[in-house]
Amino acid sequence: MEQEIRRKTVLSGIQPSGVLTLGNYLGALKNWVGLQEQYDCYYMLADLHTITVRQVPAELRQNVLKTISLYLAAGLDPDKCVLFLQSMVPAHSQLAWLLNCYTMVGELSRMTQFKDKSAKHEDNINAGLFTYPVLMAADILLYQADLVPVGKDQLQHLEIARDIATRFNNAYSPTFVVPQALTFPAGAKIMSLSAPTKKMSKSEDGDGTVFVLDPKDVIIRKFKRAVTDSQSDIRFAEGKDGINNLISIYSCFTGKTVPEIEAEFEGKGYGEFKIAVAETVADGLTPLQNRVSEFMKDREYINRILTDGAEKASYTARKTLSKTMRKIGFYDTSK
Ligand code: TYM
Repeated sequence: MEQEIRRKTVLSGIQPSGVLTLGNYLGALKNWVGLQEQYDCYYMLADLHTITVRQVPAELRQNVLKTISLYLAAGLDPDKCVLFLQSMVPAHSQLAWLLNCYTMVGELSRMTQFKDKSAKHEDNINAGLFTYPVLMAADILLYQADLVPVGKDQLQHLEIARDIATRFNNAYSPTFVVPQALTFPAGAKIMSLSAPTKKMSKSEDGDGTVFVLDPKDVIIRKFKRAVTDSQSDIRFAEGKDGINNLISIYSCFTGKTVPEIEAEFEGKGYGEFKIAVAETVADGLTPLQNRVSEFMKDREYINRILTDGAEKASYTARKTLSKTMRKIGFYDTSK
């Protein structure tokens, strides 16, 4: 008899800790849309992760609304994938506790994000910041995800999720699918426009970070001020971090390859190139921005999506959680 082939499962998430940046969009959200057609996709808003850094309560609520609206505006379709809010599915916190006991302090200490964030928030180096990757592992393992589409900055966290899954499977018997990262080369690491050796990040204000809801004039201003180098040729090459970044961004929006872009701007100056990239980005984001405001107005629809999503996600998550608890040896009154 023909055996049914299981569709692969995809899971990913973004922290609703502010408006999404161009990095979040090009490194993650934009790539998720196409995956809905081929895979069983779970896309969440990682709100539990946001409180590792202090959030203003009213802003957190507003950012959840903005982020789910952005998911929908970008083309995620609740009929094709499960869209949900992490905090509405208790199994995430529950599995995270269990996995904490299968994660070593030594491996968590090596996480570069922990080191960076504790340097940035010296007055609030909380335990959640340290165990952050364990919660992320729980997010992924609960859904038995095969593929996790992320930007390059999350690869170290993916590696630890794989290590935790493998350790647990070896200690008991196969329980978790060992997930694989999925990166999309062009947008995998979008750099700050003002410091192109650093990644573009939500927590850095100023002109280095483009937010997807920035108005056109702000986008143009930020790109005009983008740091480049002292040469003048528009070429992707080592040491030209600023130009390389602009080429990558332009490539993501136009679908053009690097050689095509180099040919298009041959003999042109940096100023002209920056304006061309800025216009392309601003125009590329306009439809998304228009749709976001529509979704944000429809609270009833958003609430329904989140309620349905949490129900579907919980169904899958609870199955993995029970299986995990059984393997560990927790008492089960149904037996
Ligand atoms: P977060 O919210 O920092 O970022 C969300 C996604 O955007 C990608 N990204 C970038 N990609 C390219 N260039 C950049 N400058 C850039 N900045 C961010 C990130 O790689 C990520 O894919 N821990 C995660 C959220 C999370 C998660 C998960 C992800 C929680 N649980 C489970 C995957 C699976 C985070 O903080 O992402």
